[in-house]
Amino acid sequence: MILNFGSINLDLVYRVATLPTPGETLASTGYEKYLGGKGVNQSIAAHRCGADVLHLGCLGPDGNWLREQIADFGLSLEGIKTVEDHTGHAVILVDDSAENQIVLYGGSNRAFTMDQIETALKKANPKTDWVICQNETNLVQEIAQAAKSMNLRVAYSAAPFEAEHAIPMLDHIDLLAVNEVEAAALQDALGKDPRDIGLRYLLVTKGAEGADLHTHHETLHQPAFSVTPKDTTGAGDTFLGAFMAEFTLSNNPAKALCFAAAASAIQVTRAGAAPAIPMRDEVLAFLKENQ
Ligand code: RIB
Repeated sequence: MILNFGSINLDLVYRVATLPTPGETLASTGYEKYLGGKGVNQSIAAHRCGADVLHLGCLGPDGNWLREQIADFGLSLEGIKTVEDHTGHAVILVDDSAENQIVLYGGSNRAFTMDQIETALKKANPKTDWVICQNETNLVQEIAQAAKSMNLRVAYSAAPFEAEHAIPMLDHIDLLAVNEVEAAALQDALGKDPRDIGLRYLLVTKGAEGADLHTHHETLHQPAFSVTPKDTTGAGDTFLGAFMAEFTLSNNPAKALCFAAAASAIQVTRAGAAPAIPMRDEVLAFLKENQ
């Protein structure tokens, strides 16, 4: 099982011709609302790609639509707690070249408690299970520390990136997932290459350049599949969720990298983050056609 202590956002998505410059007022050409949040996007990707997932998250009293969406995506509501804060949300602008800009309101995502974390971790099996966390919730370091103290394996996506949050995590995780920009920022903050700090798995996604998985023994490179993107929001979340699903199923990191590259290639050709995430069968069909 994958236990994902992760954010849940209402994504308010505006299509724009170009991203606005400071002081500019811009009319949007389209508007949609979706279930989103890096955490729940990863959970949906892992679930759709075949993993057994328990998502742990917090919604405000205004989060009923998101609660229904989570259930419609096939995730259990067992780990979703209602708290007093407003539900987390994201204002997302997507331009004609599929680039985006995101403003986050953390809200309910910052309401995790140690009690909630410890109760959830009791459901995990150290022999088989992984814990996932990212920076959109509070208590991220506490989640990783508590999971490690129970001998669980921890995957951490250091996004949105802040060095002061990422660096203390490095002692408590088995897998660090970053994009190239985050990897460079981490290198600056550490004063050394993140490949040299002894991480068991360092996953670096590089957009059109593909992805690298650095382990103690080797570096696996996976080229990106060539597609025409429509919306890249959630591509990194899809990559990590799909990678974790295939890795936990096959225990084959090269196969998991390739599977994740295919899942995120499909995902960017569709609008939205969570609704764009493909099912396992779609990923396998894509691989059959494109390998
Ligand atoms: O990674 C994409 C996600 O980032 C969006 O769904 C948005 O909610 C923000 O968390």
